[in-house]
Amino acid sequence: MNTLVRKSVLDVKPYVPGKPIEETKRQLGLKEVIKLASNENPFGPSPKAVEAMKKSLAGVNRYPDAQGYYLKKRLARHFGLLAENFLLGNGSDEIIDILIKTFVETDENIVTSDTTFLEYEIIAQVNSRKVKKAPLRYFKYDLGAMLKLVDKKTKLVFIANPNNPTGTYVTKYEVADFLKALPGQAIVVFDEAYNTFIDVDDYPDSLDYLRRKNKVVILRTFSKAYGLAGLRLGYAIADPQLISYMERVRQPFNVNILAQAAGLAAIDDKDFLKKTRRMTLEGKDFIYRELSKMGLGYVPSAANFILIDVEKDSREVFKSMLKFGVIVREMSQYGLKNFIRLTIGSQKENRRAISALRKVLTPRA
Ligand SMILES: Cc1ncc(COP(=O)(O)O)c(C=O)c1O
Repeated sequence: MNTLVRKSVLDVKPYVPGKPIEETKRQLGLKEVIKLASNENPFGPSPKAVEAMKKSLAGVNRYPDAQGYYLKKRLARHFGLLAENFLLGNGSDEIIDILIKTFVETDENIVTSDTTFLEYEIIAQVNSRKVKKAPLRYFKYDLGAMLKLVDKKTKLVFIANPNNPTGTYVTKYEVADFLKALPGQAIVVFDEAYNTFIDVDDYPDSLDYLRRKNKVVILRTFSKAYGLAGLRLGYAIADPQLISYMERVRQPFNVNILAQAAGLAAIDDKDFLKKTRRMTLEGKDFIYRELSKMGLGYVPSAANFILIDVEKDSREVFKSMLKFGVIVREMSQYGLKNFIRLTIGSQKENRRAISALRKVLTPRA
């Protein structure tokens, strides 16, 4: 059968998602399982989004609005931009695919970092595009090293900011230097899936780069802080002309009726966002304190997850934590064999995760 498949597809190592709750319950015969493995919102979906979806359910016999007219208009108002500045996607995952298909010829390349969101490389590979990756420096994107990889054939540069799985971010100073030195044909994609959780002053204002006519594309998602991961809704913000080319590549009905209705309502749900942000930051402090008490190293995070050095094979730690009904992410797929990534949950979930981690890492006397 191998001969039937394109070579680039044969070489792909498929993305391994966080283990689902139901599967874990079934396999281990557990009643209560918590999932802190996919950086989702532990406080549920935005209640306003749920109400809006209920109202639009009766209309799902029709195709969705192919233009996403109301949602784009609403986003435009939210950001003080034009509706033409937005492209909607079936999650930002889909937009990564659209970006590569729109801008990168098969003999051109993409630059990003090692140990970053795996979909950049997987989607590029499936599309037979070459990816060049610079190593991280102290768990952080090294923009200087990435710049050295950029050549005349580089069309896209992916910067996850904050980065997944490290939670680190690049500062506005680093980005300003990087953009200044970048050759004209390269488009920089700032993937800001976790921007809502930022709590620092030197995070770059990527919209400002857009206003100053830099060739940048900003990716945002409703999957994290807005609590709508299961609906699949993300968007790109860019110059209208770049967006118009991407619109040619997009499938006409890529964002379904419920996702459009939910997005429209969620963007207005300031209370929900505020609560999510506050509880996440509190949860992060709690987990930092507990990890320090346990003497475990971690990477300080600007996002809603923490990369933890468990000082032993993370696949074993993952399996042992499952037995306590706690799903985390083991990081061997990212080349971080002794690390797990823990999503910050509700306070009850955080306590349970820490208690499980303590039991798993403390050998019985
Ligand atoms: C950095 C980053 N970008 C994009 C995504 C995908 O988001 P979406 O659910 O919008 O496809 C994720 C999800 O984990 C992510 O971590």
